[in-house]
Amino acid sequence: MSVALIRNGASHGVPSRNVYAHMAPTGGVRARNDVAQYDDLAERWWEPRGPFAMLHWLAAARGALVPPAARDGAVLVDLGCGAGLLGPHVAGKGYRHIGVDLTASALHVAVAHGVTVVRGDVTAVPLADGCADVVTAGEILEHVMDLPAAVEQACRLLRPGGLLLIDTIAATALGRFLAVTVAERVPGGAPPGIHDPDLFVDRAALVRECARHGVALRLRGIRPSLIGIGRLLLRRADTVVMVPVPTTAVLFQAAGRRTGRSGHG
Ligand SMILES: C[S@@+](CC[C@H](N)C(=O)[O-])C[C@H]1O[C@@H](n2cnc3c(N)ncnc32)[C@H](O)[C@@H]1O
Repeated sequence: MSVALIRNGASHGVPSRNVYAHMAPTGGVRARNDVAQYDDLAERWWEPRGPFAMLHWLAAARGALVPPAARDGAVLVDLGCGAGLLGPHVAGKGYRHIGVDLTASALHVAVAHGVTVVRGDVTAVPLADGCADVVTAGEILEHVMDLPAAVEQACRLLRPGGLLLIDTIAATALGRFLAVTVAERVPGGAPPGIHDPDLFVDRAALVRECARHGVALRLRGIRPSLIGIGRLLLRRADTVVMVPVPTTAVLFQAAGRRTGRSGHG
């Protein structure tokens, strides 16, 4: 398998819809979910208290679900890898960490943090079928226009028995309220305009699409620890632990292994 940082890849426009919300550095505006917002914030990915603080907390929670590699040469494909925040949480587990993302500025940062990167769309990943022992899709599915295509790609990349790990935001009124109305206003919350709530993920559709491609997904709700948030605000800690909650109606993790055959070939 050959992977490389492809600088002149295919068009990387994520179609935008919904209201204009984010001021570009030039004084213009960015549409909600416009991937150019990640270029605007490219220097800030790794700031523990920066605009992507919560992604650090989520990366730690995701990394904790990755088992040690079961074979030499194992591969972890990190869909929508951004700047490689998952890296420290899987380092030493025995995988080659390959990140896929549309945003070149984020991929350059990921490379500096030891990730092998491929520039590409998660709905058309330029990697071989069955190349991955683990596929992660952390905080990416709520950004894609075509959920079935992204799920098909994630499952396609998995070897039989391989593990799919997802975390994303549920398409519910509560999910939209907390992840957009509230989170865009609090420290450590989402950068304003980074989400288009219309793209939040229908949990039943996610489970169904994964099942079609041979992955039986189990979901569990998570949220930041309130004690952790308090410690962060008091500057007694720089990170916050994610804890389980009994509902998947806002933020949730999902995991499942690929069986030998997909239901739809
Ligand atoms: C919220 S960030 C998550 C980054 C990383 N997974 C993390 O948790 O730190 C979403 C990432 O998805 C990327 N992205 C958005 N739409 C994409 C698409 N269709 N294909 C590939 N990457 C995409 C963005 O460039 C951005 O880096």
